[in-house]
Amino acid sequence: MKIIIINGPNLNLLGKRENDIYGNETFNDFFEKLQKKYATQEISYFQSNIEGELIDKIQEVGYSFDGIILNAAAYTHTSVGIADAVKAIQTPVVEVHISNTFSREDFRHKSYISPNSKGVIVGFGLQSYELALQSFGMKNK
Ligand code: DQA
Repeated sequence: MKIIIINGPNLNLLGKRENDIYGNETFNDFFEKLQKKYATQEISYFQSNIEGELIDKIQEVGYSFDGIILNAAAYTHTSVGIADAVKAIQTPVVEVHISNTFSREDFRHKSYISPNSKGVIVGFGLQSYELALQSFGMKNK
């Protein structure tokens, strides 16, 4: 199984960004642990702060990978371009969020990604990504 995690803007700052909301762990540390735990699987990772680069990556993997785990971060709430890319491709997308966006500001309640996602996992911290992996049927050894 080939799965990619795609993270949007400011998620490169995990570990030093609003720790009360996003926790203390860097994404690289979390991702290393995840790869070890699911060592028999092919899990890759891409992060960008740039909307067009996220769209390019979604298009690139969207016809060959088995699944995309997408945290479009702030673009979730604004980007018709990313929503259209998710709609255009064949690979199923699971939308994830670290924080519970529904318990935060109103503008975070709207997602342009959700209508074309296979499912949405919100509010479980970094564990949201692991739950998304499991939703694709990935099991750890
Ligand atoms: C986020 C929630 C978004 O509202 C926010 O802009 C982010 C991160 C999350 O994972 O909780 O950057 O997607």
